[in-house]
This record gives sequence, structure tokens and C-alpha cells, in this order.
Amino acid sequence: RPPFTYRFEPGGRTGAPPLLLLHGTGGDENDLLQLGAMISPGSPLLSPRGRVLENGMPRFFRRLAEGVFDEEDVRHRALELGEFVQYARDRYGIDAPLAVGYSNGANIAAALLLVKPQALSGAVLLRAMVPLTDPPDAKLEGKPVLILSGQHDPIVPGDNAAALADMLSTAGAGVDRRVLPVGHQLSQADVALARTWVAETK
Ligand code: MLT
Repeated sequence: RPPFTYRFEPGGRTGAPPLLLLHGTGGDENDLLQLGAMISPGSPLLSPRGRVLENGMPRFFRRLAEGVFDEEDVRHRALELGEFVQYARDRYGIDAPLAVGYSNGANIAAALLLVKPQALSGAVLLRAMVPLTDPPDAKLEGKPVLILSGQHDPIVPGDNAAALADMLSTAGAGVDRRVLPVGHQLSQADVALARTWVAETK
């Protein structure tokens, strides 16, 4: 049995890419199912709940303060998530998924790309920041990544999100980054852009 509580929705459209849905702090495995279905209709949806609790709020790794991460825990939790993805692939017969992560979920998705690139086919990172200051030498050729940032995001400084885009493209990923005139919350523009990008990319 995997250590994660999760939801799996089989999807119904042949060829639709499986999505790994990763919620933000205080969310759970139900949060992003609707978003996933909007971004990629008919995709199999794999949605785990973060195993770290911060004042009762589920997350995917420990942090010392807002925006200050326990990077040893980030690495450990990313590898653990990678093992869960492999478990789910075997159990449900799905391909390596495209991660769709929001906030803390986007940060663990970026970490997973860096520590275990083969776990994901690519990623949609919503309000992501640099998860590891000194990441391993990842080979991300052939991995498309969409980063959607908020121009007025009080949690993610613009140069930090830009540094993440640089880090992933230096490792070989095909990075597309857009800055939207919004804050940390998701907007309809995120959904529309992600949906178009997934349809054109997969
Ligand atoms: C994080 O801890 O991953 C970031 O600060 C985003 C958040 O969850 O608020």
C-alpha cells in the first residue's frame, strides 16, 4: 500500500495524457480534480494528498518559513512522490504523467522534475518557485514545462520564478513562462492558458 491518501479517476479519452495533480498548502486530494478535468478533458487523474502537516494543513514538504524550504525534506519527499507515481503507473497502467501543481504542489512538481526526471512527462507549474537551491544535474530534454506566474504574487517574487524557468531550461526542459496580471490565487486565465498549452503540447 502506498503511503499517500489519493484519488484516481480513470479518464475516458484515448491518448489524453495522465495528470498528476498536486494541491497547495491546506488542500487535499479532491481540490484539483475539477481543474484537471478542465485543463485536459478525459485525462486519467492521479491526485495524492501531501503527507506533511503544517498546523494541520497538508503540504508536500516541510518549510522553515514562508518561501524558506527544508531542502533535505524537499528531496526526500520528491523521491517518495516519485515512488508513488511508479506505484500508480503499475497499478493503473498509465504512462508517466504530466504534473499539474499549484503553489506548494507546483514546488514539489519542480523538485520531482529535478530529482527524478523520468517520473514525469512534463509539468504545468502554477505559482511555482525554486524548490532546491543546488539541484542535482537533471536531464530534462523532451520535457515541456509551462510556468504561470502572478505579477502581483506576494508569496513568489518574480525573479525567483524567473530563476526557476532558467534552472529548468538550463537542464534541457522546453520552458514556456507567462506572467499574468494576478496574485497568488488561480484565475480563469490560468485554466485557459494551461488547457491550450496541454492540447498543443502533448
Ligand atoms: C511553499 O511553501 O511551497 C510556498 O511557500 C507556497 C505555499 O505553499 O504557500
